[in-house]
Amino acid sequence: MNSLSTVHFYDRSVEIDDHGDEILTGLLEKPRTLSPKFFYDEKGSELFTEITRQPEYYLTRVETALLRKHVDEISELIGEDFILVEYGSGSSEKIRILLDSLKPAIYAPLDISGEYLAQAAQALGREFPWLEVHATCVDFTGEFELPFTSTKRRVSFFPGSSIGNFDRSEAQSFLGRIRNLVGDAGGLLLGVDMKKDPRILNEAYNDRQGVTAAFNLNILVHLNREYGADFNVESFRHEARYNEEEGCIQMFLKSEQDQRVNLMGTCLEFTQGEKIHTENSHKYTVAEVEEMANEAGFSKIRTWQDDQGLFGLFYLSN
Ligand code: AVJ
Repeated sequence: MNSLSTVHFYDRSVEIDDHGDEILTGLLEKPRTLSPKFFYDEKGSELFTEITRQPEYYLTRVETALLRKHVDEISELIGEDFILVEYGSGSSEKIRILLDSLKPAIYAPLDISGEYLAQAAQALGREFPWLEVHATCVDFTGEFELPFTSTKRRVSFFPGSSIGNFDRSEAQSFLGRIRNLVGDAGGLLLGVDMKKDPRILNEAYNDRQGVTAAFNLNILVHLNREYGADFNVESFRHEARYNEEEGCIQMFLKSEQDQRVNLMGTCLEFTQGEKIHTENSHKYTVAEVEEMANEAGFSKIRTWQDDQGLFGLFYLSN
């Protein structure tokens, strides 16, 4: 029998103008900032997938190994008959490890990169013919509701240490919102990159092939194409370094010369050496994750780590 999986796609992306305001406001601030969510146009999503294959970027490899190793225990903890909501599903690579064992009634990936998400959802549907997929293009850092109705229990999956992109208080409230979404009967499978020797971290965000640099610079290409900016991409440089006090990797684009950039009718003047802050990637200790989880209202925490304690996988529930 040729039973094809049903793949639904919902576009809940905001008007381009809304993002335009956010971008301009950030670039007019000092220090200038851009939200890392603007990395993920189609090219940016591809470059991120490329980053995950770099030898220095251990995060994805270690997390993937943890998922493989503990999939049975994870399934047992989660139970049956639930909707699996993934935040920032990208290429939906990691969920493939879990699906056969987890067998969710519905898989609901959320991602800001619409085209990329639609293709990933289609591919997943072909690979897992029994699976019902409800994919939503949405900026999940803002308020939103799931675009389909179902009375089933909800379990969230937030891998890749993407939670690190939020500052610590934002991460706390985001966990609280996930706690609300999944309710008393649900849970959250969370992947978090751990605090460690800064040398390992600095290498992970400064890979030798320059893929992270290309990923960082692509945010300007994205702004040029979608928002009519005229950044001279060649005159900005990638910079990433671990900030010990903040406990996070900070990424910047540094202007190599004095220059003017036009963006939506506004002229931005950059001095030589001036930086645009493009990303924070916060690192946590197990104790910090536990505290955050408890604060968000999760009472049970199961923790898995690799031998070197590079990465942590957590199942939070009640
Ligand atoms: C997708 C947010 C987890 O912070 O490690 C990778 C993005 N930035 N290299 C991270 C990223 C530079 C990544 N997250």
